[in-house]
Amino acid sequence: MSPSSSGQETRPAEICFRCIACGDRSSAAGQDFRCRRCGDLLEIIYPQWIDSKPDPAALKSTWLDRRTSNAILDLSGVWRFRELLPAIENERQAITLREGNTPLYELSHCSRIAGVERLFAKHQGMNPTGSFKDAGMTVAATFACLAGFRWVACASTGNTSASMAAYAARGNMRSLVLVPEGKISWSKLSQALDYGAVTCQLRTDFDGCLRLLQELVRHAPVYQLNSINPFRLEGQKTLAIELLEQLDWHPPDHIIVPGGNLGNSSAIGKALLEMCELGLISHLPKLSVIQAEGANALVRTLREARGERLISVQPETRATAIRIGNPASWKKAARVIEATGGECEQVSEIEIAQAKAEIGAEGIGCEPASAVTLAGLKKLAARKFVKANETVVLVLTGNLLKDPDYTIEFHRGDLFPDDEDAKAIGALRHLRRPPIVLDATLDAVIRTLENAGKS
Ligand code: F0G
Repeated sequence: MSPSSSGQETRPAEICFRCIACGDRSSAAGQDFRCRRCGDLLEIIYPQWIDSKPDPAALKSTWLDRRTSNAILDLSGVWRFRELLPAIENERQAITLREGNTPLYELSHCSRIAGVERLFAKHQGMNPTGSFKDAGMTVAATFACLAGFRWVACASTGNTSASMAAYAARGNMRSLVLVPEGKISWSKLSQALDYGAVTCQLRTDFDGCLRLLQELVRHAPVYQLNSINPFRLEGQKTLAIELLEQLDWHPPDHIIVPGGNLGNSSAIGKALLEMCELGLISHLPKLSVIQAEGANALVRTLREARGERLISVQPETRATAIRIGNPASWKKAARVIEATGGECEQVSEIEIAQAKAEIGAEGIGCEPASAVTLAGLKKLAARKFVKANETVVLVLTGNLLKDPDYTIEFHRGDLFPDDEDAKAIGALRHLRRPPIVLDATLDAVIRTLENAGKS
């Protein structure tokens, strides 16, 4: 077997760009990835599926076979599903770090806490740079390189920049990072520096960084790698495809995802709709999006404006990954929530901290933005939108080590100022495990062990 052909090969997909508002189609997209007619966002579609849909049974079997292959594309948990991705000509074109292939864990303690029968975590924090961004970045960076760009750029709350910088370096491209000064974690910043990005800490928030980037791409030959870029979303679709494969193609009742700039929820929703259209799954899971109360633009947009216009907010949350007030993909996300029958919910800072500690206590660990999913599930279950006998998948988007300061402050009891809701903070006390400083004696350690055993 040749290294690039494992099992049965199915035809890779030809693409076209379609505007999500006016439906205008084109074979190429400008650097702002906006419709040339009405200025709205573009999505990638696969026109050949109209006349010749790929056979779902053949796809499933091809994808399964590739799990035993050592071919470069097959080792990637993204390119393994290449029939549902934009086509590349050969495997050497792909910039890959073996992204995807992320675990699906059962959360038995958290399922009891939330009051649902079966709860899973799809842990995208187990990707090469520690977040779900890698699944989209492998595809978009590859197409940046194929288009001949020397520079790629993004605005970021930290994870996109870490991922972009890594993939740019692997593809011999330079990268430019725009991040809000003082509002991203040091771990994420250190990744961008280590991977050689030119990193600018701008005196603004994420939304200000993104506005500037969109101006920049009109004036300089840089390829933008934010999730406005539809190639990113095609790669991120594979999270859902891989998840369904892990569940033997039995759709869960609910998938719950954090919402920031709303690219990921849009991508997962697109994957679900495409899988249904192609006959890979028989029905749609409900896709719900959870935001932090302090960065709840989509919640307000759906509740107060019935999804007709975006209500921007001045964002504030310690879950800095989703500290976004003007989400670019709000329309795409609103549509997939509606199409799948999902919900949009918001959670408080205390609820996020509690959920993060509960997930961590189960030996999994994630960053604060990912923990909104469990906090949101508790609310959705309390109001019976999620029923006790249903199967739920939480998408954990980032690794615990992405934001160690948050975790340490939580366990030391420094996360919330004294004047915040004392009763709610008190309820967190049993989850705290602060480090204990001791004299280096056997006696001191045994006493600590005994005390801990009583609690
Ligand atoms: N979770 C994590 C860990 C994130 O880093 C992000 C977004 C989200 C959730 C929200 O995903 O934007 O697709 O709705 N991080 C971006 C960044 C904005 O720049 O790293 P979304």
